[in-house]
Amino acid sequence: MERLQTLLAEYISAHNTYFSRHEWTKAFATLPYPLYWNKVYDIAKTLSNSKTVLEIGAGFGFVSSIFAYHGFKQIIAFERDSEICKIGNELLTEIFGISSCIRSELYGMQNIKTDILVLVNCSYADNCKNKQEYMSKLVSYYEKAEYPDLYILEVIDSSYSEKDDCFPEFIRLSRHDIEQMFPNCIISSWPTYQYPINKKSKTLYLIEKS
Ligand SMILES: C[S@@+](CC[C@H](N)C(=O)[O-])C[C@H]1O[C@@H](n2cnc3c(N)ncnc32)[C@H](O)[C@@H]1O
Repeated sequence: MERLQTLLAEYISAHNTYFSRHEWTKAFATLPYPLYWNKVYDIAKTLSNSKTVLEIGAGFGFVSSIFAYHGFKQIIAFERDSEICKIGNELLTEIFGISSCIRSELYGMQNIKTDILVLVNCSYADNCKNKQEYMSKLVSYYEKAEYPDLYILEVIDSSYSEKDDCFPEFIRLSRHDIEQMFPNCIISSWPTYQYPINKKSKTLYLIEKS
């Protein structure tokens, strides 16, 4: 794992002018990496790399990189910010020789069948006005991906009760909420961030088709 972390950290430091504009990328410039990233790494290394991967909100490709590193060949990712998408694709090309796997597009209604759906470090209320709409949006991603074998989903946890305009209360979900959303699935979970040690609390869920 450290080898991949070192590759990414070196890439970030060599292209610091791009990355320094995005505060959250600092966590990838030095070791150790955030827990959620390590958890995705641990999950990915147990999976067959012949499976297809769809990542929503790929950013600079740090999570898609995990799958590329493990030899997955069929990766599609979506990043709505065209500049970030361009840099993410350059990173994946330079390190792994993969070209244009990140699409410069908002992921919403596209039907793309996949085996593994990934939505981590990407909790946005966007057009949702309440909790029901937010939960429905996360479930609709799963449906549009045609019920993948695995959904790796990280959300802001309901235990986080501070006032926070970026992460309104209705997007903070409990395990009970996730169980309601995916009633026929096997659900495992890990805390990834814990307030007040971190700025907020988050939980990563592995949602498996039973
Ligand atoms: C905080 S970054 C994290 C990127 C990546 N998941 C990671 O952990 O390295 C979240 C990114 O998701 C993108 N994003 C959010 N919602 C999206 C959507 N529906 N479709 C495409 N990109 C989206 C944002 O533009 C942002 O660059």
